[in-house]
Amino acid sequence: MIFSYFYQKSELMKINGKHYHTIWVKESDPNTIQIIDQRFLPFEFKIQDLKTIEDAFYAIKDMWVRGAPLIGVTAAYGMYLGLLSLKKDGNLKEKIIGFANYLESSRPTAINLKFAVDFVLRKTKEAEYLEDKIKIAFETANQLKADEIENCRLIGEYGFPLIEKISKAKKGETVNILTHCNAGWLACVDYGTATAPLYLAHKKGIKIHVWVDETRPRNQGSRLTAFELEQEGIPHTVIADNTGGLLMQKGMVDMCIVGSDRTSANGDVANKIGTYLKALAASDNNIPFYVALPLSTIDFNMNDGINQIPIEQRDPEEVKYVEGWSNNKITKVRIMPENSQVANYGFDITPAKYVTALITEKRVCKATQKDIETLKK
Ligand code: MRU
Repeated sequence: MIFSYFYQKSELMKINGKHYHTIWVKESDPNTIQIIDQRFLPFEFKIQDLKTIEDAFYAIKDMWVRGAPLIGVTAAYGMYLGLLSLKKDGNLKEKIIGFANYLESSRPTAINLKFAVDFVLRKTKEAEYLEDKIKIAFETANQLKADEIENCRLIGEYGFPLIEKISKAKKGETVNILTHCNAGWLACVDYGTATAPLYLAHKKGIKIHVWVDETRPRNQGSRLTAFELEQEGIPHTVIADNTGGLLMQKGMVDMCIVGSDRTSANGDVANKIGTYLKALAASDNNIPFYVALPLSTIDFNMNDGINQIPIEQRDPEEVKYVEGWSNNKITKVRIMPENSQVANYGFDITPAKYVTALITEKRVCKATQKDIETLKK
């Protein structure tokens, strides 16, 4: 495959016509990391400074940043910020391991977090002195960021032919693609995983339309994916979470593409709660169900995702209240009786048998232990 067409620099993802990454080093101060604060989108655009490891921890935990690849990159910069706070004396090794454990405890499901923190840990071990470790942590975080951008770009290139094939079979009629949560550039650094093939198809003039699951409780679909697609001028329709099954039965969905927070070595896919139900409906209706993910999301040490992937449970308030834009400000309203009990599971696991294929930066791969194993090489 020739990777020639996609994304000259000026074509990268934009907000109001200006290109942003989700995270970057502050130009005037390399000791400060800046992020787009996603808690306010699509209503307000705010940039936040992260100056300490605690800032990075809470940015991940409280979902100022979210999405598996972005959580990983933020944690890598978090390690750098932690190292910056150290004094030359004292037990460096113990402290750095403490930083890694602290950051890893911020959110449990996305394996990219551990992948990134372990990578910085390994790299910093190569140096003896604190100044060198700081430099290495900084360079490693920058490298991870660059890698995730390139991974997503390649996922776009490998995923594109799957859309093109359906478009050809439909003689150029609109390809209807369903996605869940936000696996777009806001969940990564640029391009996105599930969205990268969509952006490429749109750029190449293939007619697409995206069904966007609203994705309760945090509404990453209606707030973030719809926002991204709107900014790129891609036709899309936001649907209530339970709508997908009907649309599939009525022939209104040609394919599903979702992201993942952790995929085990046997191909079970953890993704935002509700993904599994879409995969079941897709299977019942013979609709291809693809998972787009970088290798940093594959847990090669785990062979049984259904029983082993830890599922985050978040604050019941997220279910109890809905957040929206009213009177020029973000407002929360309660949508149930005050004393009703609430459960807030963040993710579910789609068994490998319902996954048509994984779209990775190396190639499109079967969701089987045998094929996933070959990605390591
Ligand atoms: O709770 P979130 O918003 O971090 O969950 C995000 C998702 O479930 C995404 O689909 C997943 O991280 C893939 S991101 C490319």
